[in-house]
Amino acid sequence: MSRQITSVKGTKDILPEESPKWRYIESIIHELAAEYNYREVRTPVFEETQLFARGVGEYTDIVTKEMYTFLDKGETSLTLKPELTAPVVRSYIQHHYDQTYPLSKLYYLTPLFRQERPQAGRQRQFHQYGIESIGSEHPETDVETIAFAMDVYTRLGLHSEENHLELRLNSIGDSNCRFQYLQQLQGDLAAHRDNLCKTCQDRYESNTLRLFDCKNESCQAILEEYAPKITDHLCEECDQHFSTVTRLLDELAIPYILDHTLVRGLDYYTRTTFEITSGLLGAQDALCGGGRYDLLVEQLGGNATPAVGFAAGIERLILALEAEDLFPDFTDELDLFIVLVGDSVRPKAFKILQNLRSEGVRCDMDFLRRSVKAQFREANRQNASYTVVLGENELEAGEATIKNMATGDEQLVPFTDLAKFFRKKL
Ligand code: HAM
Repeated sequence: MSRQITSVKGTKDILPEESPKWRYIESIIHELAAEYNYREVRTPVFEETQLFARGVGEYTDIVTKEMYTFLDKGETSLTLKPELTAPVVRSYIQHHYDQTYPLSKLYYLTPLFRQERPQAGRQRQFHQYGIESIGSEHPETDVETIAFAMDVYTRLGLHSEENHLELRLNSIGDSNCRFQYLQQLQGDLAAHRDNLCKTCQDRYESNTLRLFDCKNESCQAILEEYAPKITDHLCEECDQHFSTVTRLLDELAIPYILDHTLVRGLDYYTRTTFEITSGLLGAQDALCGGGRYDLLVEQLGGNATPAVGFAAGIERLILALEAEDLFPDFTDELDLFIVLVGDSVRPKAFKILQNLRSEGVRCDMDFLRRSVKAQFREANRQNASYTVVLGENELEAGEATIKNMATGDEQLVPFTDLAKFFRKKL
């Protein structure tokens, strides 16, 4: 027997039982995007590898360890998209959006690919929704981005206090003040460098800010004791920007926790960074993350344009909603199941079926030539609200008995009125 092929490690089928949950979440995102005036962008599944090396950062985990990269026939190095900020910015520049939309407000829903170690809430193909607001340097756009991120959860029934959501917030400065801060950080840690783990020792030179991402307890203790706080070293403009962000959040009553270690794992961030975590998830507790990236558009070849955005994992959101039992009931999708008596009625029944469908009735009939009893079983299994039995007698009379499967009530309805019957019910 040949080997059974299964889905690749770290990928999952979204089965029919699950897909209503996805559509439900997606519909809320589309709804909110319309209310916030964001327009949807869909970019290709793969991009030139260079885009991510330059956009996300050569030394980031994503670029060094996690990308699915391959050569195409023209020997160009391509990569399955591991994130969407760089592709959206690429698209924004390529299509000259800066000329038509001084503030381009874009959103997306997309599968992404990262070769990470799979575990609960972490997959190799996963899905994100997110927004990118390109064109404004002002703190209101940071706050709009954060408010959007929070609103998705609120609208789905997840709330900060009851459902253990935490918004963590930081500012990591800009090209003006970051360099000085990093020098200070290196200086303050120099005497303790040898006590850091191997990864941190490497990062000390090449990617100093990412020292804060280390999960190693002794590294964290050293940082806690000796590392200066970045928010104490912001230049005046960054400081002003950050205090306006926090003031606006206060005014909108969006609770947050200041976390000076929140540096994020992608290199493009400037000023505001944020994450929303959920206490309902295990180790992979980040529901979403984002921040400002004022230098990325220019780095990718566009005009210098400030921007801010966030992205959120849908699989983790589903886990959180399931943990709190917040999904509505998605059953009862079929309005009518037509039960056939005898083979001769099949062509006419098919016509009736198609006619009802064209009128918007969600209906089906037996395609396996099963017994009447088995057809009723099937109607039950499909949660059909109604059944109708069609045999020679019914076709001759031009009417049939419709049965309400929940109450058992029956009603005689002419075929010509069937669609009307359902329109009234629906
Ligand atoms: P990120 O923090 O890499 O940011 O990813 C955002 C979210 O995607 C995470 O908080 C998590 O919910 C989800 N996620 C990431 N990796 C996985 C995985 N392997 N399996 C399941 N879920 C995952 C970004 O991607 C940035 N582009 C966000 C951004 C947009 N910044 C500015 N604009």
